[in-house]
Amino acid sequence: MKAEIFNFFTLLVEKVSGISLKTGKEYLVENRLNELARALGYRDHEELYQVARGRLTRDLLDQIVDALTTNETYFFRDQHPFEALRKHIIPELKEKRADLKKMVFWSAACSTGQEPYSLAILLKEYFSDLLRSWRVEILASDISESALKKAREGIYTQIEVNRGLPVTFLVKYFQQVGSHWKISEELKGLVKFRKINLVEPLQGMGSFDVILCRYVLIYFSPSMKKRVWENLCRVLNPGGYILLGSTEFPPSLPPDLEKKVLGKTVCFRKKD
Ligand SMILES: C[S@@+](CC[C@H](N)C(=O)[O-])C[C@H]1O[C@@H](n2cnc3c(N)ncnc32)[C@H](O)[C@@H]1O
Repeated sequence: MKAEIFNFFTLLVEKVSGISLKTGKEYLVENRLNELARALGYRDHEELYQVARGRLTRDLLDQIVDALTTNETYFFRDQHPFEALRKHIIPELKEKRADLKKMVFWSAACSTGQEPYSLAILLKEYFSDLLRSWRVEILASDISESALKKAREGIYTQIEVNRGLPVTFLVKYFQQVGSHWKISEELKGLVKFRKINLVEPLQGMGSFDVILCRYVLIYFSPSMKKRVWENLCRVLNPGGYILLGSTEFPPSLPPDLEKKVLGKTVCFRKKD
C-alpha cells in the first residue's frame, strides 16, 4: 500500500475515532479497504482513495471507520470480570442501591453484542429478583454500525456461540435458526443498543453504576486514551465500577477512584 494512501486513511480514522493505526499495519488496512472498496463497487483501495479525496461524505467516512475497527469479542470474555460482577460488584451495589432500586450498566464498546448479552445472561441467572423488581438498564454502544447491526439482531454462528458460552446457557437462551443461533427476545429486551463514539463528549448520557470498557483503549493514542478515560470517570456514579480488559491499564487514577482487586480481576471503583 502506498504510504500516501496509508497516511490519508489512518489520519482520517484517528481523527474521527481515536483508533491509532501505526506503520506496520499497512497490510491490514489495505485488506480491509479493498474489501470495503469492492462492496461499494470500486476496483480497490486506490480507487476508494481517489473517491474519498474528491468527495468524502459522512456516510463514506462512517464506512471507512467501520472497516478499520477490530471487532474481536466473545461471550463471557476472560470469565473473571463476570465472576467479579456476580460475586462482588452486583451484590455490593444491590445493598448500596436498595433505596433507589436502580442499577445501570454500560458496555461501552460492545462490538457484536456478546459482552452485553453475557451480562444480561448473568443477571437473568443470578439476579432475577433485581430484574423483576428493580429498574435495571443495560446500555450497549459502539462506533461500528455493522457491529451494532449484528448485535441488535442477536444472531450468531456456531463458532461464535462455541466461544465462551456454556452449552447450558446456549440451550436456555438461544433458539436454533438453520445453522445459526438467535438470542431470546427476553434477553434482547434487556439491552438497549446505541451508536456512541467514545472520543466525543458524552453528553446527555446519564450516569452508570458499572462501565465495561474492555479492549478498546488499547487502540487509542496516549492522549486519546486519557480523554476517553476521563470521560468515563465523569459518568461513573459514586460507588460504581469501571472494568477494563485484563491487559489494559488506566492512564491515570483520579483521587476519587480506587483500584480494587476482586478475585482475579482488577477494577476501578469511584469512592462514595
Ligand atoms: C476488540 S472490540 C472489544 C469488544 C468487547 N468490549 C470485548 O471486550 O469483547 C473493540 C470495539 O471497540 C470499538 N471502538 C473502537 N473505537 C471506538 C470509539 N471511538 N468509540 C466507540 N467504540 C469504538 C470497535 O468498533 C470494536 O467493536
